Amino acid sequence: MDIIKSPEAMQCRVLELKRAGYSIGFVPTMGFLHEGHLSLMRLARSTCDVLVASIFVNPIQFGPNEDLGAYPRDFERDETLCEQEGVDIVFYPDPVGMYAADASVWVDEDTLSRVLCGASRPGHFRGVCTVVAKLFNLVLPDVAVFGEKDAQQLRIIERMVRDLNFPVKIVRGPIVREADGLAMSSRNKHLSESQRKDALCLRRSLDIAQQLAESGELSVGQIRLRMVELIEKVPEAEMDYISFVDDATLEAVDQLVHPVLIALAVKFGSTRLIDNRVVVL
Ligand code: PAJ
Repeated sequence: MDIIKSPEAMQCRVLELKRAGYSIGFVPTMGFLHEGHLSLMRLARSTCDVLVASIFVNPIQFGPNEDLGAYPRDFERDETLCEQEGVDIVFYPDPVGMYAADASVWVDEDTLSRVLCGASRPGHFRGVCTVVAKLFNLVLPDVAVFGEKDAQQLRIIERMVRDLNFPVKIVRGPIVREADGLAMSSRNKHLSESQRKDALCLRRSLDIAQQLAESGELSVGQIRLRMVELIEKVPEAEMDYISFVDDATLEAVDQLVHPVLIALAVKFGSTRLIDNRVVVL
């Protein structure tokens, strides 16, 4: 397995590989890898000749008061995990190599980004789209895999690929959860013991929504109420949003006509967690 730090070297290597006829699979990450990331690598591995994973904590997708400095990092551990998953190249650039001091071109999706996490984190998806567009240009993947855990990010990347004609196929990887149902996230590491238990309320509230829907309750107002009740009972949980949106357009819906994406974000102290479920009746 090779580790490439320079963007220019990454692009040169991949151009050589493509000229030699190899297909490229790609999994972009911010590192501190867990089973969720590794599941995407396994998915990608089966689609390509050469598997590239990137590890880059992208500064421009963090707001001024967000956790860029505290974002967990452990490159040595990540390297071992990538090796075990059969990654061929780890792209590990630094922010100075990725962004010129006077960089002035950004990729801005301006419809799907307005709601859910985009409403709470202004500029976040501009940072995500810009770095993913740059990574696509540097890695030139045939296939790139993104997780359903970040449902809005996934839909925005798919829109960017469609609207800007990137020659890459986006594959969706299912959410990987801990045994008790908490969606895996690099940020779970920041939770105290009691917050870790409290964090189960995300998954539980989605289960309640699904049960209500399956028992015939179609009113978003009613279902939302039950989800809010559950989360408000958890002492340390501070709700950011619970949204019911059309799975494709991310427009708010008031009836569970399928398929609806139920997405929520809840803060535990300074740690913000997200989860979601697509309900298809
Ligand atoms: P990061 O949070 O490291 O996630 C990298 C990829 O792993 C994303 O596609 C994310 O959806 C997926 N992922 C994270 N947790 C998962 C889980 N529990 N189950 C399945 N997939 C999971 O998302 C980012 O980094 C960044 O925004 C990035 C796309 C790399 C751009 O900087």
